[in-house]
Amino acid sequence: MPERMRVICRSEDVQERGPGFRFALPELGERTTGFVVRYNGQVQAYVNRCAHVPVELDWNEGDFFDVSGEYLICATHGAHYQPQTGYCVMGPCSGKSLIKIRTLERDHEILIQLD
Ligand code: FES
Repeated sequence: MPERMRVICRSEDVQERGPGFRFALPELGERTTGFVVRYNGQVQAYVNRCAHVPVELDWNEGDFFDVSGEYLICATHGAHYQPQTGYCVMGPCSGKSLIKIRTLERDHEILIQLD
């Protein structure tokens, strides 16, 4: 396993458009977290930091999807991000993006790889 790759959770911990799984990202700062969600079957991970103001997206822990299940939403001012790209399509940071983290899903586990 490459050095910067690590297991985050089990596959069943992240259900389609369900609650995201949060994890610590000490590599990017003491209090930095990331999250993993599943959208259209694919696992997507991002640094949990809005592109507008550097705050965590989830107001209720693990709540990343909007009510439609089509977008990731920032609880602070409502920025909407595409789950598959992290691109902000609506809100105060339109045109900016979340920081994506590479993922791998294998043997019922979800791994992330940091560059
Ligand atoms: S802090 Fe996320 S939209 Fe303003």
